[in-house]
Amino acid sequence: MAKILVTGGAGYIGSHTVVELIAAGCEVVIIDNLSNASRKVLERLQELTGAEIPFYRADIRDRDALTGIFKKEEIESVIHFAGLKAVGESVEKPWEYYDNNITGTLTLIDVMRKHGVKNIIFSSSATVYGDPAFVPITEECPKGTCTNPYGWTKSMLEQILMDIYTADNEWNVVLLRYFNPIGAHKSGRIGENPNGIPNNLMPYITQVAVGKLQKLRVFGNDYPTHDGTGVRDYIHVLDLAAGHVKALSKLSPGSGLNIYNLGTGKGYSVLDIVKSFEVATGNEIPYEIAPRREGDIATCYCSPKKAKEELGWVAQYGIRDMCEDSWNWQSHNPNGYH
Ligand code: NAD
Ligand code: UFG
Repeated sequence: MAKILVTGGAGYIGSHTVVELIAAGCEVVIIDNLSNASRKVLERLQELTGAEIPFYRADIRDRDALTGIFKKEEIESVIHFAGLKAVGESVEKPWEYYDNNITGTLTLIDVMRKHGVKNIIFSSSATVYGDPAFVPITEECPKGTCTNPYGWTKSMLEQILMDIYTADNEWNVVLLRYFNPIGAHKSGRIGENPNGIPNNLMPYITQVAVGKLQKLRVFGNDYPTHDGTGVRDYIHVLDLAAGHVKALSKLSPGSGLNIYNLGTGKGYSVLDIVKSFEVATGNEIPYEIAPRREGDIATCYCSPKKAKEELGWVAQYGIRDMCEDSWNWQSHNPNGYH
């Protein structure tokens, strides 16, 4: 049976997607260099799926390793999550980000085409819209100026994949622009495992709740939003994972290039999230108002209409599930996978 190669499959979104893919009857092979993931994820994936999933600890920049995998496994499609993703770190280490994300993807695409594999789903981000020209953001919204090297790698990789498709229409390319993924698998066995102090809102909140951090700093309360704090489109990671399974339908011959937003279409402010988390979990989250964080925008939420119409995908989970499941994961794994 033809297989799906999941790059970065030991990571947060990749691991949840692997569970959904196996539930949908797909055969999966994982490659991950474990630069931002734990080997324990693989045991837990086996526990959750009952499947022995072939795993290669290798870097996507390693052409020989990739070639070995494509020779050995019958890969039909690639879901490409592998990449570095910390916004602040990317400002300090631009070379490392461009090398990992761009060189890595170029190497992957080259090895794919040499083996006649021309189907790819790529993890893009709402960050490519920059400060969006309008909300709700549709896929027609022009791409914007990114505020950090991480964002540029996503924007540039989208362009690279579009150009590859233009030059060779045998490719089927799906660009999925994720909004803000949070939540975890219902079992509490896999979830987000940030290194050090989390940059993102939900893991910060759950670490306050579990007592690892003292209080949340709310970055700015003077944005033009309903309560002055930043508004985002949070999406349950299980919905995001399901979106990848649906997107496989756009890898059939002649599908070409397709771009989809994956979000719920609803915007919640930082204080909305704090309140929802408190109500859903019974934890109090102390916070203080801090200055705005550089590079942040006021409001970002999408129109998920295109994904609904063309993929039949609609987010199932609301903010309560997102908060409960983030907490379920954090409270059962206070130190993540460590
Ligand atoms: P993650 O860090 O948990 O997962 C990425 C995985 O890729 C990790 O397991 C890491 O070890 C692996 N990896 C990194 N570089 C590699 C390389 N050169 N070779 C092999 N493996 C490598 O991140 P995530 O949150 O699961 O994100 C997955 C993808 O989605 C990333 O491309 C990210 O940029 C994108 N994305 C994430 C978000 C978000 O908020 N989490 C939003 C938009 C887009
Ligand atoms: N925030 C705080 N305090 C914190 C962390 C975040 O107030 O400690 C606020 C931010 O200012 C923002 C909101 O919470 O208003 C969400 O911030 P996140 O860092 O969780 O998410 P971002 O929207 O800034 O960015 C995330 C990813 C990016 C990705 C983008 C769109 O980090 O990589 O979503 O998908 F590009």
